[in-house]
Amino acid sequence: MIDVKFCVNILLRNMDNSNNNNKKKMISRKVVGVKSFMVMDVMARAEQLEKEGKDIIHLEVGEPDFETPAVVREAAIEAIRSGKTHYTHAMGLLELREEICAMYHREYGVSVTPDRVLVTSGTSPAMLLMMLALLEPDDEVIVSNPHYACYPNFIEAVGGRLAEVRTLPDDGFRYRPEQIRAALTPKTKAILINSPSNPTGVVMSRKNLEEIAAFGGQFILSDEIYHGLVYEGKAHSILEFTDRAFVINGFSKLYAMTGWRLGYLIFPKEFSGVMERLHQNFAISANSFVQAAGIAALRSAGPDIERMQSTYNERRVYMIRRLRELGFTIHVEPTGAFYVFADARHFCADSYREAFNILETVRVGVTPGIDFGSGGEGFLRFSYANSLDNIKEGLNRIEAYLREK
Ligand SMILES: Cc1ncc(COP(=O)(O)O)c(C=O)c1O
Repeated sequence: MIDVKFCVNILLRNMDNSNNNNKKKMISRKVVGVKSFMVMDVMARAEQLEKEGKDIIHLEVGEPDFETPAVVREAAIEAIRSGKTHYTHAMGLLELREEICAMYHREYGVSVTPDRVLVTSGTSPAMLLMMLALLEPDDEVIVSNPHYACYPNFIEAVGGRLAEVRTLPDDGFRYRPEQIRAALTPKTKAILINSPSNPTGVVMSRKNLEEIAAFGGQFILSDEIYHGLVYEGKAHSILEFTDRAFVINGFSKLYAMTGWRLGYLIFPKEFSGVMERLHQNFAISANSFVQAAGIAALRSAGPDIERMQSTYNERRVYMIRRLRELGFTIHVEPTGAFYVFADARHFCADSYREAFNILETVRVGVTPGIDFGSGGEGFLRFSYANSLDNIKEGLNRIEAYLREK
């Protein structure tokens, strides 16, 4: 029964691929290879099962289960009431950019001026504009494998090339400097980092960041979207170590604002003019009342953040302990974001298939490690952006699943 459903899934994917072959002639080569998120396949099947009345525990989703803080929601409502419903400056509201600069100064002691900050509708568009502004055709970007699933698509869509570095489980999948050195070519334009990381939840140390910043010829592209969600020690910004860096960050994760679509890019001064022109042309501006809500988030959501952080931490500690008891290996304990990337290679050779088997048999959604690149095969990503009760129930079901295997 399970395998039949799995096979139907594969068949549908293949049919889609063959349709894609026909479409290939019409669609630009730059984007025809853009792959879908596998986690979306899991979620789509989970939704189908829920419609059939099945009770699913979602440990696959990468978004906060908390409500957006009330102070943020009220600020947006007030902004709409008072007519802040028009375009803003292409770079974003000055007040918001000043708050972002103040936050980077407060948290990391770095001086950033508002003319180096571009406010966008989510971190994702900021990433696309950054790649567009930076990459010539065939320029290479060093990316760890495993990595956040979308990175290759952003790079390749603008004609760049991915230079993958196979990071190791025992290093928490963090780069070793010698691996980066070995991957450098005359075409290397940038090195992409993501700390705390999706999918591993691992945080890079000051030393790691210093070593990477020391590759001075390249730009460092630092995805800091999980900053603030750190439960032990401290996350450092790449801007503490070099100005030859782009930072992407946003409100989705820390402020539980995924659906609001608010993010930003901090870039080297030389890119000021071009970033403004690109955003003017391709987006005009980010949403005005959402930017007003972003100001409230930075100024007033501190207590809400503390409450969410402490709840995530409680879940994190429980999930790590329980997954280990169930026989998963967690090579380096995650101390940030809201994910545990668990080594399941002792029973799982095909993580896509395994994720579907788990979903079909015990009704728990998990993300296949292969979604994050070949280096993630045999791993499963568990998200603790769900209540402790649901996490306990989900892991009880996984225990039953493993007993039957
Ligand atoms: C590492 C990483 N970067 C960027 C994003 C995109 O975030 P946004 O909602 O701001 O577009 C995500 C979302 O899951 C992520 O995990």
